[in-house]
Order: sequence, then structure tokens, then C-alpha cells
Amino acid sequence: MEKFIVHGGASLEGSVNISGSKNASLPILAATLLTSEQCVIRRVPDVSDTNYMLQILQNLGAEVERASGTVVIKCEKIHRHDAPYELVRKMRASVCVMGPLLARQNRANVSLPGGCVIGDRPIDLHLRGLSGLGAQVTVEGGNVDLQARFGLEGKTVDMMGKHGATVLGTDNVMMAAVLAKGITIINGAACEPEVVDLADFLNSMGAKISGAGTPRIEIVGVTELGGVDHTVIPDRIEAGTFLVAGAMAAKNKITLRRIRSDHLNSVLQVLEQCGSEIEIEGETITIGKATSPQGANINTEPYPGFPTDMQAQMCSLFAITPGISVVKDTIFPQRFMHASELKRMGADIQVDDGTAVINGVEHLSGAPVMASDLRASAALVLSGLTASGKTEITRVYHIDRGYEHIDDKLAALGAQIDRVPDR
Ligand code: EPU
Repeated sequence: MEKFIVHGGASLEGSVNISGSKNASLPILAATLLTSEQCVIRRVPDVSDTNYMLQILQNLGAEVERASGTVVIKCEKIHRHDAPYELVRKMRASVCVMGPLLARQNRANVSLPGGCVIGDRPIDLHLRGLSGLGAQVTVEGGNVDLQARFGLEGKTVDMMGKHGATVLGTDNVMMAAVLAKGITIINGAACEPEVVDLADFLNSMGAKISGAGTPRIEIVGVTELGGVDHTVIPDRIEAGTFLVAGAMAAKNKITLRRIRSDHLNSVLQVLEQCGSEIEIEGETITIGKATSPQGANINTEPYPGFPTDMQAQMCSLFAITPGISVVKDTIFPQRFMHASELKRMGADIQVDDGTAVINGVEHLSGAPVMASDLRASAALVLSGLTASGKTEITRVYHIDRGYEHIDDKLAALGAQIDRVPDR
């Protein structure tokens, strides 16, 4: 295991290239199961979650080559229909092989992902959608088995849950429906840019999907799909994390390159409200530290609302922003593990019932803290950059799941972060 030693008092300047999206790459990699032809996928971030997904695909029979962000996959022969617990437990997103396996093999057997530190993460909506297309679902021995002996049939399915739409659930049903007989309508679909990127990928393979990015997606089933060359969209959450780094620790300004600013509207709006100056030009955003910083109140919501995946990083910013800020996570109300670690660094945060009330302090002080999940780890790194002294962050494997070389990227902006073995 490794840990980070983050040296406080950072003064960031320069520019950083944003990587391809982890959350768009994962379902797109899974979707290569839908064709026996070769797919080339560019700008796949080199993070452990994409590595786990490639392991799952290889286990199913895929031939995979990976070099400098480009992954070449050929699923000519799929000789199994299962994703075992050893692989699924490492990454919840492995459930998104369910849809494509069912479409290609008429059967999928996937281990149930189980609990997760950010909260209870059921897959009932995925199963509701897939059974709506005719799959027979049985759960036994910790695995979910789906069968559609005579193939899937297009139907109208409603995917809306009590916390809103489901991103990977929408992806799963969309991937299953592309090869189903007839027309599928997904009502209550997730509208996230990652869903749109998957739909674009599937359409270039020959699928007939319209309405992705709206709550109603229509899919006209086709009989086969072909190979494709696709470039993954930029990672809006990595970009948001670097925007917060700029807002907290820029000497003057930092520049983010290779972004899609239209995917970042809600985050940019809050950062501007907090006093940061932001300039957008094409695929580039420049952000400066706020001269008279102010707190804000945010509620996480499905896209285009404020993303839950940016909630922890905002808590770090608000921890050193004068005044009271209120952060409510309506999607994952238990996702506040970072709050108690930030308190160890001197933050004044009270969490109750999915809401954090943060009273900004003048500065945080470095302390030994523990990373608990991906975005919480990013929040600790951000706080460590501005704290006084050293912040030692253990369990950084959480951050390596979803941020491509975050320590190197921050070092290139002038931060001092040592990655050392944790004995
Ligand atoms: N939900 C259900 N039933 C389901 C599925 C979801 O009740 O069958 C609930 C969840 O418990 C949650 C809400 O619906 O309250 C939304 O969850 P969703 O299914 O959209 O989450 P996901 O698809 O499993 C993706 C991202 C997460 C991100 C969420 C929300 C990937 C690989 N993961 O998860 O990203 O937080 O959408 O936007 O795309 C991260 O990158 O750090 C991360 C956790």
C-alpha cells in the first residue's frame, strides 16, 4: 500500500490536461462485448477501475491491448457469461456487463456488488429494466442470474427511483436494448453526459438510439453491431476537482485544458458564486483563487444539477471559506466520510441527515488522515495543499481508482506531494 505526504502552503500555477472520463469509459468498455469486431477506444484513463473492467472483459474472452490511453478490444469469442465476485467486489461498475452479456449471450450471471462506503447501492432498478425487456431474474448465492432464452424484446420501461434516475442502470438497459427485437423506450432515464457518450459509442457501432441526454430514450433494436473508433469525453469530475484546487490554492491562475465546459455548468456557477474568476475559451478554462471568498449552499442532484461526485471537494473549499456553507447530498446521503477526516485537520463541520453545515475557518492544519473512497480522498488532497504543515493520507489506492496520476498532475502545477510506501 502507498500513502501521500502532501506538503501544505501550495501555490499552484501553470496548466493541466484533463484525462478522459472514467465513468464514461467503464460502460463503453463493457459495450465492446456487443460486437465480435475490433473496437478502438481513445483517452481511456489509466486508473485502476478501467484496469479492473479490462480484467473482467479478458476473463470473458476479450483480447485486449492497451497503450498510451488507447485500448483496442476484440470480443470475437465470448466463452462465458459471468462476472465473478473476486472481480465485481473490487469495482461496483462491473455490474454494467450485465446488459451487454444478456444481449450477446442471452444470459448473464453477475455477482451482486454489495455495500459500498458511500451508502447502500442497490441494483433493483437495473433488474427492473432488464426484466421489463423479458429477462428472467433470479438471485442466488450472492449472484444475480439473468436469462432470456429466446432473446430480449423491446418494451417501455420506467427507470426512475426514489433518489432519481440511475446512471449505470440506464446504461445497462440501453446496452441490452440495442440488440433486442423491436422498440424500447426508457422513461426516467439518467441524463448524464456519460450516458450520452455511451449512446454515441453504440450509435457509431450501428445502434439506433435517440433521446440520450433527456429522460426519454428510444432504442430501435438492430440485429448486429460492428467495430468502432471512439474518443471518450473529458472527465468532468477530474476537471471539477482541479477547478476547486485552483479556487483554493492558485497563486494567480491555473488553466485546465481538454475540457467540455458545457458539462461543468453547475460546478462553474457555484465556484463563481464563491468568488472565483473563471474564463472559458474553447476547450480551456482558467480559474483564479477568490479574492473575497464566500460560502454557498449546494444540493447534489442528477445532471444537470450539482454532481454528488463533487460534493466532498466542495466541502474542502468551504472548510476554509469564511461564513456558513450548507452541503446536502440527496443522492448518497451517507457520503460524508471525508467530514470526520477534515475535522481532524481543524475543519468545523457538523453532519446530520445527509447535510453538512460548514463554518469556514481561517486555515486547516496538516494531520494524518485516511482516504475512505475516491472523491473523499480527493477532498483530503485538496485540503492538504492549503493546510499548514504535512498531511499524511493513507489508503491512496482509493484515489488511484479514478484519478489518473493526480500526484504528478498537481506536482506539475507546483504542489509538493510524495507518494511513499505505507508500511
Ligand atoms: N439506485 C437505486 N437502485 C438502483 C440503482 C441506483 O435505488 O438500482 C439509487 C442509488 O442508491 C443512488 C441513486 O439511485 O441513490 C443514483 O445512483 P446511480 O445508479 O445513478 O449510481 P451509479 O450509476 O451506480 C454512477 C457513478 C458514480 C456517481 C453516480 C451518481 C459510475 C461508474 N459511477 O454510479 O460515480 O456517484 O452515478 O451520479 O458511473 C464516482 O465516480 O466517484 C462515483 C461514485
